[in-house]
Amino acid sequence: MRFLVTGAAGFIGSNLVDRLLAGGHEVVGYDNLSTGRLEFLAAAMAHPGFRLVRGDTLDPTALAAAMAGVGFVLHLAGNADVRFGTHYPRRDLEQNTIATLNVLEAMRAAGVRRIGYASTGSVYGEATVFPTPEDAPFPVQTSLYGASKLAGEALVSAYAEGFGFQGFVFRFVSILGPRYQHGHVYDFLRKLRANPQRLELLGDGRQRKAYLHVDDMAEAVLLAIERAEDRLTILNLGQDDHCTVLDSVGWITARLGLAPEIHCTGGERGWIGDNPFIFLDTRRIRALGWAPRHGIRASVEATLDWLTANPWILEAKP
Ligand SMILES: NC(=O)c1ccc[n+]([C@@H]2O[C@H](COP(=O)([O-])OP(=O)(O)OC[C@H]3O[C@@H](n4cnc5c(N)ncnc54)[C@H](O)[C@@H]3O)[C@@H](O)[C@H]2O)c1
Repeated sequence: MRFLVTGAAGFIGSNLVDRLLAGGHEVVGYDNLSTGRLEFLAAAMAHPGFRLVRGDTLDPTALAAAMAGVGFVLHLAGNADVRFGTHYPRRDLEQNTIATLNVLEAMRAAGVRRIGYASTGSVYGEATVFPTPEDAPFPVQTSLYGASKLAGEALVSAYAEGFGFQGFVFRFVSILGPRYQHGHVYDFLRKLRANPQRLELLGDGRQRKAYLHVDDMAEAVLLAIERAEDRLTILNLGQDDHCTVLDSVGWITARLGLAPEIHCTGGERGWIGDNPFIFLDTRRIRALGWAPRHGIRASVEATLDWLTANPWILEAKP
Protein backbone atom coordinates (compact mmCIF):
# COMPACT_ATOMS: atom_id res chain seq x y z
CA MET A 1 0.00 0.00 0.00
CA ARG A 2 1.11 3.58 -0.56
CA PHE A 3 0.97 5.77 2.56
CA LEU A 4 1.07 9.54 2.68
CA VAL A 5 2.68 10.63 5.95
CA THR A 6 2.26 14.30 6.84
CA GLY A 7 4.93 15.45 9.27
CA ALA A 8 7.22 12.73 7.88
CA ALA A 9 10.41 14.59 8.83
CA GLY A 10 9.41 14.97 12.48
CA PHE A 11 10.18 12.83 15.52
CA ILE A 12 7.19 10.49 15.29
CA GLY A 13 6.71 10.81 11.53
CA SER A 14 10.24 9.75 10.59
CA ASN A 15 10.08 6.74 12.92
CA LEU A 16 6.79 5.67 11.33
CA VAL A 17 8.20 6.19 7.83
CA ASP A 18 11.08 3.82 8.61
CA ARG A 19 8.65 1.22 9.97
CA LEU A 20 6.38 1.43 6.93
CA LEU A 21 9.29 1.11 4.49
CA ALA A 22 10.65 -1.86 6.45
CA GLY A 23 7.18 -3.43 6.15
CA GLY A 24 7.33 -3.22 2.34
CA HIS A 25 5.02 -0.21 1.90
CA GLU A 26 5.58 2.79 -0.33
CA VAL A 27 5.64 6.14 1.43
CA VAL A 28 5.14 9.70 0.28
CA GLY A 29 6.42 12.02 3.01
CA TYR A 30 4.80 15.45 3.19
CA ASP A 31 6.50 18.08 5.31
CA ASN A 32 7.30 21.79 5.31
CA LEU A 33 10.39 21.18 7.48
CA SER A 34 9.30 23.79 10.02
CA THR A 35 10.35 21.56 12.93
CA GLY A 36 11.20 18.43 10.92
CA ARG A 37 14.75 17.49 9.97
CA LEU A 38 16.07 16.01 6.78
CA GLU A 39 18.64 14.13 8.89
CA PHE A 40 15.78 12.02 10.32
CA LEU A 41 14.92 10.88 6.80
CA ALA A 42 18.47 9.95 5.76
CA ALA A 43 17.69 6.21 5.58
CA ALA A 44 14.28 6.77 3.98
CA MET A 45 15.76 9.00 1.26
CA ALA A 46 18.01 6.15 0.20
CA HIS A 47 15.02 3.80 -0.07
CA PRO A 48 13.40 3.38 -3.51
CA GLY A 49 9.93 3.25 -1.93
CA PHE A 50 10.17 6.75 -0.45
CA ARG A 51 9.55 10.20 -1.89
CA LEU A 52 9.54 13.48 0.03
CA VAL A 53 7.22 16.30 -0.95
CA ARG A 54 8.17 19.59 0.64
CA GLY A 55 4.76 21.11 1.15
CA ASP A 56 2.56 22.82 3.70
CA THR A 57 -0.69 21.40 5.06
CA LEU A 58 -2.11 24.91 4.68
CA ASP A 59 -1.59 24.60 0.90
CA PRO A 60 -4.58 22.63 -0.48
CA THR A 61 -3.17 22.49 -4.03
CA ALA A 62 0.10 20.89 -2.99
CA LEU A 63 -1.76 18.48 -0.70
CA ALA A 64 -4.10 17.44 -3.52
CA ALA A 65 -1.13 16.73 -5.81
CA ALA A 66 0.54 14.57 -3.16
CA MET A 67 -2.53 12.31 -2.81
CA ALA A 68 -2.09 10.57 -6.20
CA GLY A 69 -2.11 6.80 -5.79
CA VAL A 70 -2.30 6.97 -1.98
CA GLY A 71 -4.29 4.34 -0.06
CA PHE A 72 -3.84 5.56 3.51
CA VAL A 73 -2.96 8.91 5.09
CA LEU A 74 -1.16 9.14 8.42
CA HIS A 75 -1.70 12.74 9.43
CA LEU A 76 0.97 13.71 11.96
CA ALA A 77 1.97 17.21 10.83
CA GLY A 78 1.00 19.91 13.25
CA ASN A 79 2.13 22.03 16.11
CA ALA A 80 3.21 19.51 18.75
CA ASP A 81 4.11 22.02 21.46
CA VAL A 82 1.44 22.48 24.14
CA ARG A 83 3.34 25.04 26.12
CA PHE A 84 3.16 28.30 24.23
CA GLY A 85 -0.44 28.04 22.99
CA THR A 86 -1.58 31.19 24.74
CA HIS A 87 1.33 33.16 23.22
CA TYR A 88 0.10 32.36 19.69
CA PRO A 89 -3.68 31.87 19.91
CA ARG A 90 -4.21 31.18 16.17
CA ARG A 91 -1.37 28.71 15.74
CA ASP A 92 -3.05 25.56 17.09
CA LEU A 93 -6.26 26.31 15.24
CA GLU A 94 -4.42 26.77 11.94
CA GLN A 95 -1.76 24.08 12.24
CA ASN A 96 -3.86 21.39 13.90
CA THR A 97 -7.51 22.00 13.00
CA ILE A 98 -7.61 23.84 9.66
CA ALA A 99 -4.68 21.74 8.41
CA THR A 100 -6.68 18.59 9.27
CA LEU A 101 -9.66 19.88 7.32
CA ASN A 102 -7.32 20.52 4.36
CA VAL A 103 -5.97 16.98 4.54
CA LEU A 104 -9.48 15.49 4.69
CA GLU A 105 -10.65 17.63 1.76
CA ALA A 106 -7.63 16.67 -0.35
CA MET A 107 -8.37 13.02 0.46
CA ARG A 108 -12.02 13.40 -0.50
CA ALA A 109 -11.10 15.00 -3.83
CA ALA A 110 -8.61 12.20 -4.58
CA GLY A 111 -10.88 9.36 -3.42
CA VAL A 112 -8.58 8.39 -0.50
CA ARG A 113 -10.75 7.09 2.34
CA ARG A 114 -8.52 5.91 5.21
CA ILE A 115 -6.84 8.23 7.71
CA GLY A 116 -4.87 7.83 10.95
CA TYR A 117 -4.82 11.03 12.99
CA ALA A 118 -2.26 11.99 15.66
CA SER A 119 -4.32 13.29 18.55
CA THR A 120 -3.25 13.48 22.18
CA GLY A 121 -4.10 12.56 25.75
CA SER A 122 -4.33 16.33 26.29
CA VAL A 123 -7.90 16.24 24.90
CA TYR A 124 -9.02 14.84 28.28
CA GLY A 125 -8.09 18.15 29.92
CA GLU A 126 -7.65 17.42 33.61
CA ALA A 127 -9.31 14.01 33.70
CA THR A 128 -11.22 12.84 36.74
CA VAL A 129 -11.15 9.09 35.95
CA PHE A 130 -7.84 7.14 36.13
CA PRO A 131 -6.73 5.31 34.14
CA THR A 132 -8.72 7.42 31.69
CA PRO A 133 -10.71 5.42 29.11
CA GLU A 134 -11.53 6.68 25.61
CA ASP A 135 -15.17 7.26 26.58
CA ALA A 136 -14.41 9.26 29.74
CA PRO A 137 -16.14 12.65 29.90
CA PHE A 138 -13.88 15.56 28.97
CA PRO A 139 -15.96 18.69 28.81
CA VAL A 140 -13.24 21.17 29.81
CA GLN A 141 -10.14 21.86 27.70
CA THR A 142 -7.04 23.18 29.46
CA SER A 143 -4.94 24.13 26.42
CA LEU A 144 -5.44 25.60 22.96
CA TYR A 145 -3.43 22.59 21.72
CA GLY A 146 -5.92 20.11 23.24
CA ALA A 147 -8.85 22.12 21.93
CA SER A 148 -7.41 22.20 18.40
CA LYS A 149 -6.66 18.46 18.43
CA LEU A 150 -10.14 17.64 19.69
CA ALA A 151 -11.61 19.72 16.87
CA GLY A 152 -9.42 17.73 14.45
CA GLU A 153 -10.78 14.49 15.92
CA ALA A 154 -14.30 15.80 15.41
CA LEU A 155 -13.55 16.48 11.74
CA VAL A 156 -12.15 12.97 11.25
CA SER A 157 -15.28 11.45 12.80
CA ALA A 158 -17.58 13.71 10.77
CA TYR A 159 -15.80 12.69 7.54
CA ALA A 160 -16.11 9.04 8.55
CA GLU A 161 -19.83 9.50 9.06
CA GLY A 162 -20.50 11.91 6.21
CA PHE A 163 -18.21 10.62 3.46
CA GLY A 164 -17.67 6.96 4.36
CA PHE A 165 -14.06 7.40 5.46
CA GLN A 166 -12.39 4.97 7.85
CA GLY A 167 -10.82 7.02 10.63
CA PHE A 168 -8.30 6.09 13.32
CA VAL A 169 -7.80 8.58 16.13
CA PHE A 170 -4.71 7.96 18.25
CA ARG A 171 -4.56 9.72 21.61
CA PHE A 172 -0.93 9.48 22.71
CA VAL A 173 0.70 10.20 26.02
CA SER A 174 4.10 11.91 25.66
CA ILE A 175 6.31 9.88 23.34
CA LEU A 176 10.04 9.23 23.91
CA GLY A 177 12.85 7.61 21.93
CA PRO A 178 15.29 8.27 19.08
CA ARG A 179 14.84 11.61 17.21
CA TYR A 180 13.02 13.12 20.15
CA GLN A 181 13.40 16.85 19.79
CA HIS A 182 11.11 18.52 22.32
CA GLY A 183 9.81 17.77 25.81
CA HIS A 184 11.15 17.21 29.27
CA VAL A 185 14.21 14.98 28.59
CA TYR A 186 15.37 17.37 25.86
CA ASP A 187 14.83 20.45 28.04
CA PHE A 188 16.53 18.96 31.11
CA LEU A 189 19.57 17.79 29.15
CA ARG A 190 19.99 21.21 27.56
CA LYS A 191 19.77 22.89 30.95
CA LEU A 192 22.23 20.44 32.52
CA ARG A 193 24.74 20.97 29.70
CA ALA A 194 24.56 24.71 30.37
CA ASN A 195 24.80 24.25 34.15
CA PRO A 196 25.42 20.75 35.59
CA GLN A 197 25.12 22.09 39.16
CA ARG A 198 21.53 23.35 39.06
CA LEU A 199 18.33 22.22 37.39
CA GLU A 200 15.11 24.19 37.34
CA LEU A 201 11.85 22.23 37.03
CA LEU A 202 8.61 23.87 35.96
CA GLY A 203 5.93 23.11 38.58
CA ASP A 204 6.49 21.09 41.75
CA GLY A 205 8.01 18.06 39.98
CA ARG A 206 5.22 15.86 41.30
CA GLN A 207 3.27 15.89 38.01
CA ARG A 208 2.55 12.25 37.14
CA LYS A 209 3.09 11.16 33.52
CA ALA A 210 3.04 7.94 31.51
CA TYR A 211 5.68 8.15 28.76
CA LEU A 212 5.65 5.71 25.82
CA HIS A 213 8.55 4.67 23.56
CA VAL A 214 8.14 5.66 19.90
CA ASP A 215 8.74 2.07 18.72
CA ASP A 216 5.83 0.87 20.87
CA MET A 217 3.67 3.69 19.57
CA ALA A 218 4.54 2.87 15.94
CA GLU A 219 3.74 -0.77 16.51
CA ALA A 220 0.35 0.12 18.02
CA VAL A 221 -0.52 2.40 15.08
CA LEU A 222 0.36 -0.21 12.46
CA LEU A 223 -1.43 -2.98 14.32
CA ALA A 224 -4.59 -0.90 14.70
CA ILE A 225 -4.62 -0.03 11.00
CA GLU A 226 -4.27 -3.71 10.15
CA ARG A 227 -6.81 -5.10 12.62
CA ALA A 228 -9.50 -2.53 13.48
CA GLU A 229 -12.45 -2.62 11.11
CA ASP A 230 -14.87 -0.01 12.43
CA ARG A 231 -15.59 3.18 10.56
CA LEU A 232 -14.13 5.14 13.47
CA THR A 233 -11.59 3.72 15.92
CA ILE A 234 -10.44 5.88 18.83
CA LEU A 235 -7.48 4.51 20.75
CA ASN A 236 -5.47 5.64 23.74
CA LEU A 237 -1.77 4.83 23.42
CA GLY A 238 0.05 4.84 26.73
CA GLN A 239 1.62 2.81 29.52
CA ASP A 240 0.04 0.84 32.34
CA ASP A 241 2.34 2.69 34.67
CA HIS A 242 3.29 6.27 35.46
CA CYS A 243 6.12 8.17 37.09
CA THR A 244 6.63 11.65 38.51
CA VAL A 245 8.76 14.27 36.79
CA LEU A 246 11.10 14.04 39.79
CA ASP A 247 11.49 10.27 39.19
CA SER A 248 12.51 11.01 35.63
CA VAL A 249 14.97 13.69 36.75
CA GLY A 250 16.53 11.14 39.12
CA TRP A 251 17.00 8.62 36.28
CA ILE A 252 18.45 11.28 33.97
CA THR A 253 20.92 12.73 36.46
CA ALA A 254 22.00 9.24 37.63
CA ARG A 255 22.70 8.22 34.03
CA LEU A 256 24.68 11.41 33.44
CA GLY A 257 26.58 10.97 36.73
CA LEU A 258 25.39 14.38 37.97
CA ALA A 259 23.89 15.54 41.27
CA PRO A 260 22.49 19.01 40.57
CA GLU A 261 20.51 21.09 43.05
CA ILE A 262 16.87 20.83 41.98
CA HIS A 263 14.79 24.00 42.02
CA CYS A 264 11.06 23.63 41.42
CA THR A 265 9.22 26.75 40.28
CA GLY A 266 6.23 25.46 42.29
CA GLY A 267 2.56 24.78 41.71
CA GLU A 268 0.85 21.64 40.49
CA ARG A 269 1.26 22.66 36.83
CA GLY A 270 4.45 23.73 35.05
CA TRP A 271 2.56 25.79 32.44
CA ILE A 272 -0.96 26.36 31.16
CA GLY A 273 -2.20 22.99 29.90
CA ASP A 274 0.35 20.94 31.87
CA ASN A 275 -1.93 18.32 33.37
CA PRO A 276 -0.81 17.20 36.86
CA PHE A 277 -1.79 13.59 36.09
CA ILE A 278 -1.94 11.82 32.73
CA PHE A 279 -2.63 8.11 32.82
CA LEU A 280 -4.61 6.58 29.97
CA ASP A 281 -6.54 3.33 29.96
CA THR A 282 -5.04 1.19 27.18
CA ARG A 283 -7.38 -1.83 27.31
CA ARG A 284 -8.78 -1.08 23.83
CA ILE A 285 -5.45 -1.22 21.99
CA ARG A 286 -4.33 -4.16 24.13
CA ALA A 287 -7.43 -6.05 23.06
CA LEU A 288 -6.09 -5.82 19.49
CA GLY A 289 -2.99 -7.73 20.63
CA TRP A 290 -0.60 -4.89 21.49
CA ALA A 291 1.62 -4.49 24.55
CA PRO A 292 4.48 -2.03 25.08
CA ARG A 293 7.96 -3.56 25.12
CA HIS A 294 9.71 -0.64 26.83
CA GLY A 295 9.02 0.53 30.39
CA ILE A 296 9.00 4.21 31.31
CA ARG A 297 12.47 4.30 32.83
CA ALA A 298 14.00 2.41 29.88
CA SER A 299 12.28 4.85 27.51
CA VAL A 300 13.65 7.88 29.36
CA GLU A 301 17.15 6.37 29.35
CA ALA A 302 16.98 5.41 25.66
CA THR A 303 15.99 8.99 24.83
CA LEU A 304 18.81 10.40 26.90
CA ASP A 305 21.32 8.07 25.25
CA TRP A 306 20.14 9.08 21.78
CA LEU A 307 20.34 12.80 22.61
CA THR A 308 23.79 12.35 24.14
CA ALA A 309 24.96 10.55 20.99
CA ASN A 310 23.40 13.27 18.77
CA PRO A 311 24.33 16.57 20.46
CA TRP A 312 23.67 18.52 17.24
CA ILE A 313 19.95 18.25 17.97
CA LEU A 314 20.43 20.04 21.31
CA GLU A 315 22.31 22.85 19.65
CA ALA A 316 19.75 23.30 16.90
CA LYS A 317 17.27 25.49 18.80
CA PRO A 318 18.02 29.03 20.08
N1 LIG B 1 5.65 13.90 20.68
C1 LIG B 1 4.65 13.62 21.50
O1 LIG B 1 4.88 13.26 22.66
C2 LIG B 1 3.22 13.71 21.02
C3 LIG B 1 2.19 13.36 21.90
C4 LIG B 1 0.87 13.44 21.45
C5 LIG B 1 0.60 13.84 20.16
N2 LIG B 1 1.61 14.17 19.32
C6 LIG B 1 1.28 14.62 17.95
O2 LIG B 1 2.02 13.81 17.03
C7 LIG B 1 2.37 14.59 15.89
C8 LIG B 1 3.87 14.53 15.64
O3 LIG B 1 4.55 15.08 16.77
P1 LIG B 1 6.14 15.10 16.87
O4 LIG B 1 6.49 15.03 18.30
O5 LIG B 1 6.73 14.14 15.91
O6 LIG B 1 6.43 16.61 16.41
P2 LIG B 1 7.52 17.17 15.40
O7 LIG B 1 7.50 18.66 15.57
O8 LIG B 1 8.82 16.47 15.57
O9 LIG B 1 6.92 16.78 13.99
C9 LIG B 1 5.93 17.54 13.34
C10 LIG B 1 6.27 17.51 11.85
O10 LIG B 1 5.25 18.20 11.13
C11 LIG B 1 5.86 19.11 10.22
N3 LIG B 1 4.92 20.21 10.04
C12 LIG B 1 4.51 21.09 11.00
N4 LIG B 1 3.64 21.96 10.46
C13 LIG B 1 3.50 21.63 9.15
C14 LIG B 1 2.75 22.18 8.08
N5 LIG B 1 1.98 23.26 8.24
N6 LIG B 1 2.85 21.59 6.87
C15 LIG B 1 3.65 20.50 6.68
N7 LIG B 1 4.40 19.96 7.66
C16 LIG B 1 4.33 20.53 8.88
C17 LIG B 1 7.15 19.54 10.91
O11 LIG B 1 8.11 20.07 10.00
C18 LIG B 1 7.59 18.22 11.55
O12 LIG B 1 8.36 17.45 10.66
C19 LIG B 1 1.86 16.01 16.15
O13 LIG B 1 0.61 16.17 15.51
C20 LIG B 1 1.70 16.04 17.66
O14 LIG B 1 0.72 16.97 18.08
C21 LIG B 1 2.91 14.13 19.72
